[in-house]
Amino acid sequence: MKIAVVGSTNIDMVAYAQVLPEAGQTLKGDNFSLGFGGKGANQAVMAARFGAAVYMVNSIGEDVFGDTTLANFAAENVNVEFVSRVSGPSGVAPIWVAADGSNRIIVVPGANGKMTVDQVETAISKIPDLKVVLGQFEIPQNVTAAAFQAARARGAITIFNPAPFEPISDQLRLNCDWIIPNESEFAGLHPAGKLPTTDNEIMELGQILNTNLCVTLGAAGVALLSKGAAVIRIAAPVVKPVDTTGAGDAFVGAFAFGLMQDLPAELAAKMGTTAASLSVTRLGTQASYPTKLEAAEIFSTVSTRS
Ligand code: RIB
Repeated sequence: MKIAVVGSTNIDMVAYAQVLPEAGQTLKGDNFSLGFGGKGANQAVMAARFGAAVYMVNSIGEDVFGDTTLANFAAENVNVEFVSRVSGPSGVAPIWVAADGSNRIIVVPGANGKMTVDQVETAISKIPDLKVVLGQFEIPQNVTAAAFQAARARGAITIFNPAPFEPISDQLRLNCDWIIPNESEFAGLHPAGKLPTTDNEIMELGQILNTNLCVTLGAAGVALLSKGAAVIRIAAPVVKPVDTTGAGDAFVGAFAFGLMQDLPAELAAKMGTTAASLSVTRLGTQASYPTKLEAAEIFSTVSTRS
């Protein structure tokens, strides 16, 4: 069975500093790295390291970043049959990481913004044995909605990560099986802007959206709400974060792999919290993710608990 990620690729340009600058201020940083990122690509790589057969559906630019992105997908065993090249630059993300591991990101979509409905509908119709489709808000929303509609028509499970937040259209929402917001995205989705503080608020939003919900709460783990069931809280392992960039994507990639393996959502979410917690203890985005060996260990530990 296959996972398709209909989403973004970026080159992450990460600067690490003890203190982040205010407007008009220049400060010296401690470290810099250039790495592979983009919420879509991160989720694809995480799922592939767990052993999933992953197809990336994306557009990259006619530049050196596009070339290196393709090489990275080849190294990570991600299928690029539906990654197209378009004129102009690839997506980039300048990122600042502070001493406590928190980050600030500016995403410049470039080629990601040039993805089309035709491109994704063709991809979704051609990928064999499609079981799970992942999407985020880093490509045009109508394109993701079309991909999810086509995926649903094929009986695939659709998982949507509403990041970076924008209001969700009915066409997209109605084609989501799972929505995975963080706390601020939860508040953005909630008509009254409520945060996921209590189970009641989570159940309220689940009813409004009429989807399954998995709310990521950082160090507090996740709150899972399958339709018609009670909220389940899953704790995250306690770790000391050095760089939280891409931790949410590690969660989503691992969760998608778990669902693809027919694990109950609770165990898929446990895989997600373990992968994400490990990633925040290391620098970088994809560079911080569990290796294939570590991913296999996470899967075996979590799946034998059931
Ligand atoms: O979620 C982290 C990701 O957000 C980074 O890799 C960056 O590229 C942006 O897409």
